[in-house]
Amino acid sequence: KKLLLVSLFAAVAMVVTATASFAAPIVIKFSHVVAENTPKGQMANKFKQLVDERLAGKVVVEVFPNSQLFTDKKVLEAMLLGDVQIAAPSLSKFKKYTKSLQIFDLPFLFKNMDAVEKFQQGPYGQKLLRATEKKGLIGLGYLHNGLKQLSANSKLVVPADAARKKFRIMSSDVLAAQFEAVGALPIKKPFSEVFTLLQTKAIDGQENTWSNIYSKKFYEVQPYITESNHGVLDYLVVTSSEFWNGLPADIRTEVKKALDEAIAFGNKVAAEKAISDRQKIIDSGRCEVIELTDAQRQQWVDVMKPVWKKFEDQIGKEYIEAAVKAND
Ligand code: LMR
Repeated sequence: KKLLLVSLFAAVAMVVTATASFAAPIVIKFSHVVAENTPKGQMANKFKQLVDERLAGKVVVEVFPNSQLFTDKKVLEAMLLGDVQIAAPSLSKFKKYTKSLQIFDLPFLFKNMDAVEKFQQGPYGQKLLRATEKKGLIGLGYLHNGLKQLSANSKLVVPADAARKKFRIMSSDVLAAQFEAVGALPIKKPFSEVFTLLQTKAIDGQENTWSNIYSKKFYEVQPYITESNHGVLDYLVVTSSEFWNGLPADIRTEVKKALDEAIAFGNKVAAEKAISDRQKIIDSGRCEVIELTDAQRQQWVDVMKPVWKKFEDQIGKEYIEAAVKAND
């Protein structure tokens, strides 16, 4: 009987060792909604490439672009259920998980992307990376896209031009208030539906970055783009605490390193595309890009900026002050 037990133990030990050495690789599904030729698309592909090179056989990254796997509304729920491991929704899409990230939607808060970077890397920005932790989501870093422009089926030069027009917005109450401030009608819709909504004229306009307007061909169905630079569209690269904390420490370190490098790469792409995709849109001759005079732009600032006050308590005054300082 003793002999039987010993051999049983030996058999079990053998199986355990065998499974360990032939363990299936850890799969990281990275789901996003934009095209591959965008800052986020390029960042995700770079992350996959680095992990393939460095963690072959141990970790496999699968990238799903263009809302193939999940919309941004679904992706964070799916993440908490373990159906996706990494995503990078825009900072405007976290209101179910935290109110503090709403700061990034405040109109005319940052004067350029250097100011955004400075705020994100400073103490307040770094604190905000942890804003969703209580809800089981860990912010691994910020990724840039860029400043937003206004596109429409008619010329928008002064705020009154936007009155009574329907604009698609991301699911953010700040963005809703921003459009209400000019008398427009904001409509929350997923990114995947924007082109069709514009094409069928179900909506009149939308706000987005040059790279999103270019890669999703919005400029082909919107005759006017006002170069307003009125807000920022950046991302939170996010994972679930359960997945992240469950990774073996050495793997987690390597994955984080690959992510940081991919983010740096994506940020470079973002800076380049803000210039080159804008130019491609102009060169297409499909739509007119409207540049505002200082006085015209000031009118938008005057009408939209009071929105800050409405969200000050939810966001925290000291955060807004720190963001304003980042412009210096
Ligand atoms: C949008 O919904 O307009 C953006 O969040 C899309 C994106 O991820 O850049």
